[in-house]
Amino acid sequence: MFKVQTLNNISVNGLERLPRDRFEIASEIQNPDAILVRSADMHKLEIPASVKAIGRAGAGTNNIPVAAMSKRGVPVFNAPGANANAVKELVLASMLMTARNIPASLDFVKKLDGDDKAMHEAVEAGKKKFVGFELPGRTLGVIGLGAIGVKVANAALELGMTVYGFDPAMTVQNAWQLNAGVHRALSVDDLMSKSQFISVHVPLLDATRGLINAERIRLMKKQGVILNFARDAIVDEKAVIEALDEGRLHAYACDFPSNALKGHPRVLATPHLGASTGEAEDNCAVMVADQIREFLELGTIRNSVNFPEAQMPLLPGKTRLCIVNENVPNMVGQISTALAKHHLNIADLLNKSRGDLAYTIADLDSAVPAEVAGEIAAIPGVLATRVIVGR
Ligand SMILES: NC(=O)c1ccc[n+]([C@@H]2O[C@H](COP(=O)([O-])OP(=O)(O)OC[C@H]3O[C@@H](n4cnc5c(N)ncnc54)[C@H](O)[C@@H]3O)[C@@H](O)[C@H]2O)c1
Repeated sequence: MFKVQTLNNISVNGLERLPRDRFEIASEIQNPDAILVRSADMHKLEIPASVKAIGRAGAGTNNIPVAAMSKRGVPVFNAPGANANAVKELVLASMLMTARNIPASLDFVKKLDGDDKAMHEAVEAGKKKFVGFELPGRTLGVIGLGAIGVKVANAALELGMTVYGFDPAMTVQNAWQLNAGVHRALSVDDLMSKSQFISVHVPLLDATRGLINAERIRLMKKQGVILNFARDAIVDEKAVIEALDEGRLHAYACDFPSNALKGHPRVLATPHLGASTGEAEDNCAVMVADQIREFLELGTIRNSVNFPEAQMPLLPGKTRLCIVNENVPNMVGQISTALAKHHLNIADLLNKSRGDLAYTIADLDSAVPAEVAGEIAAIPGVLATRVIVGR
């Protein structure tokens, strides 16, 4: 039995991925093997020595002491992309709402008064102020073709838009998902100059802070719409408001309200709702529970923020030795020497590294005696070891 401690309410769909005959799950539990967390701050918690893995049912891991866990040889897992569809749908809704002037038209309706006849007359007289435009044939530029950007780009193509994308560091997996009809922009400036709609889906980094600035907004086509469902500081809010006020931009849709944006007639601001769906929460919990289960049962690693990816099937009858060590020379040599000394044959071996950490999975033809595991654990630079028996 593995013990899993939950620090927040984790979606039932996620917890159901950990069968009760193999996993005991509780918010209060002694010596947990793993911790599942959403937003609870773990920086001030004493994390028991028994913890072998931490799973964050979400994307960001700021609430987890990742560096300290790396030093202990503990992988931290997250759920990248689990909320991508939720964000994509809000971006699409915002494109349609800005193109059809829905926020201003809803305000107009809210302020109508008089009897129904008077109201109908006011509607017919007033509706011409809200004439919009349709999406087919319009151009969308997507900056950042990750989990969300790829979904937005593909969906916009389906709506009949011309789509340009820019991402100099796109992963192969995301490239596989991207519709071949999406055109490649050569730079952010190139993309901005070709697009009427711009949607940013990059992380907030030094390199992306203020990415959408006054000069770049000037490059956009007329009646431009900027969509920011990534992070507030990626777009220069002051430059956007100026462009809106001067009529160079049609609208700004974002998930990050501020005093400057609040109440602006051409701003559609949602209260950080991008990932706020039941489905996104479920997806996060399911993904992270699956990854924790695989790690505890098989020692394999998917979507860790501090460990390398490590996948290898565990065949019945084999014994798996998992070793976390500092990424320094001659670690695999010392491990295989220790195994050879005890006449243990390696049937399969995987060694991956990431930054300062390396992870080795050695599948052996026979059981690993406790003294051998102890000898390997005592090699300087080894941070954690685990023995798993194939079933
Ligand atoms: N509004 C919300 O509630 C909400 C929800 C989820 C994510 N987000 C934000 O959306 C961002 C994107 O999420 P994701 O899941 O698609 O992330 P992701 O990691 O899958 O994709 C990010 C992509 O941006 C690219 N990139 C980085 N710097 C770039 C640059 N300078 N120019 C072009 N591309 C660049 C990367 O190569 C990567 O492909 C997140 O970082 C987060 O800030 C917001």
